[in-house]
Amino acid sequence: MKAQRIRTQLYQPVVKWVGGKRNLCKELHRKAPPKFGNYYEPFFGGGAFALHLHGDGSLSTSNVFLGDMSKPLMTMYYIIRDNPQEFIAKLDSEEYSWKMDISEREVAFIRCRIRFNELNNKPSLENSEEIEMSCLFLYLNKTGFNGLYRVNKQGHYNVSVDKLTKGARTICDANAVENLSAFLNREGVSLGNCSYETLLQTAKAGDFVYLDPPYDDTFVAYQKTGFSWDDQVRLKTVVDELHDRGCYIMVSNSATAAIKELYKEYSQDFTSVTSSVNSKASDRKNKRQEIIIRNYLY
Ligand SMILES: C[S@@+](CC[C@H](N)C(=O)[O-])C[C@H]1O[C@@H](n2cnc3c(N)ncnc32)[C@H](O)[C@@H]1O
Repeated sequence: MKAQRIRTQLYQPVVKWVGGKRNLCKELHRKAPPKFGNYYEPFFGGGAFALHLHGDGSLSTSNVFLGDMSKPLMTMYYIIRDNPQEFIAKLDSEEYSWKMDISEREVAFIRCRIRFNELNNKPSLENSEEIEMSCLFLYLNKTGFNGLYRVNKQGHYNVSVDKLTKGARTICDANAVENLSAFLNREGVSLGNCSYETLLQTAKAGDFVYLDPPYDDTFVAYQKTGFSWDDQVRLKTVVDELHDRGCYIMVSNSATAAIKELYKEYSQDFTSVTSSVNSKASDRKNKRQEIIIRNYLY
């Protein structure tokens, strides 16, 4: 099956990502500082907001620091930056086609999942293995149940195949990959497969830091370590340190009573979103309240 080169908006995420901010970009942009130095996004995920800002030209004079703890996600971004054509071509092959017959689809999915877990748990990978793992990661993301990336306590990806979707499906949107690759290759853009504290070490006065951690009280299993309430509290202490350094900080989270209380000395705005990708079916139907926390007002 040939890759479908479809028309897309210029800059949009390559992956479906739980907690992705595609639907909230305009609202977040309205609440961003009009001028800032460098830009930091250490919970990058699908990167909807950074891509939105880049597409709008808002990052043209900034150095940009993007990071995430997820090893396969960031490995895929390094491959998209350094080797986009090989990535696109491999995903264009029969091996990664979207099978229309459900039993074939399930067999292909399980084969890919086993191989992905094998590669993802190797301590180090050859370049060809990194490309293979990245292709498998995107294939599983697009054909697995609801685009979920969830791991168990052993770090094994354990999502099942999506049995519901019947129509054709694009695994790799070549335009989106090429546009993302161009952005990641721009001078001054750097990527880190690290924890948020590490990425934020160089943030200084006047820089803009957007933090979109795993939500309180909902899906957190992006990594085998999860993201506990203690992690939310630790993040708040980092927000306080960034505030003392003079950074502009914007945090999004679910609007739980505990998060409102934790950030009570900061500005709080609320918005409701329908999440297209959520681990719980009930949450996918309902609008959820999100909180946008800032240490500045415009
Ligand atoms: C809510 S998602 C971010 C979604 C993203 N804003 C988007 O639009 O797709 C949270 C992300 O935080 C990452 N993460 C979890 N713990 C982390 C940590 N300690 N440091 C950095 N990233 C982490 C997860 O891998 C996940 O991609």
